[in-house]
Amino acid sequence: MTKKIGIIVGSLRENSFNRMIAETIPELEPSVEYELISLAELPLYNGDLDRGDGPESVRLFREAIKRADGIIIVSPEYNSGIPGVLKNALDWASTPTKTAVLRRKPAGIVGATPGVKGTILSQQQIRQTLEATQAYVLPFQKMYISQVMDKVDAQRRILTDETTRSYLQRYVQQFIHWIDQVPSLD
Ligand code: FNR
Repeated sequence: MTKKIGIIVGSLRENSFNRMIAETIPELEPSVEYELISLAELPLYNGDLDRGDGPESVRLFREAIKRADGIIIVSPEYNSGIPGVLKNALDWASTPTKTAVLRRKPAGIVGATPGVKGTILSQQQIRQTLEATQAYVLPFQKMYISQVMDKVDAQRRILTDETTRSYLQRYVQQFIHWIDQVPSLD
């Protein structure tokens, strides 16, 4: 059966560079299906709301992660770390602990910034959070995109830099391969 990859963008901005990168992925590697999983409607995490299925937006978010064979997070860096909206979303996906949808879920991390350091610090924190949820984060390979404004066509909302396109394609291919390597939950 064709694999399904969920893509979560860690920016709510309509003209987000990271969203443009995310929207380029299906074109680069069309061998699998993709679903963009929105975190825009999620409330701030509140244990009092986290009962049963929780709020409808949380239920839909968790279901989308559950039906994906793996998720790729494409996120900016804010103040040398993980954007709050993304941390909030990952927290919602980490409960209830024993049945959390991120548990044993293969996960990849991509990040883009207009800066020169390529979201290294943000990705460290995203990895740390994912590992705390017991997700299987793709080891070794990293995908940092620096000076992203020179590598996209903002009108067409697409990654155009050929070198970066080929690195990203390779990263996604390695991630798809990784999905078959991880032990299943049962
Ligand atoms: C930033 N930005 C930023 N960039 C970076 O490389 N390291 C950082 O620590 C920060 N910190 C930071 C904090 C805050 C509050 C904002 C709003 C921005 C710049 C950031 O990379 C830039 O705005 C990107 O364009 C955001 O990603 P999207 O929305 O284009 O995907």
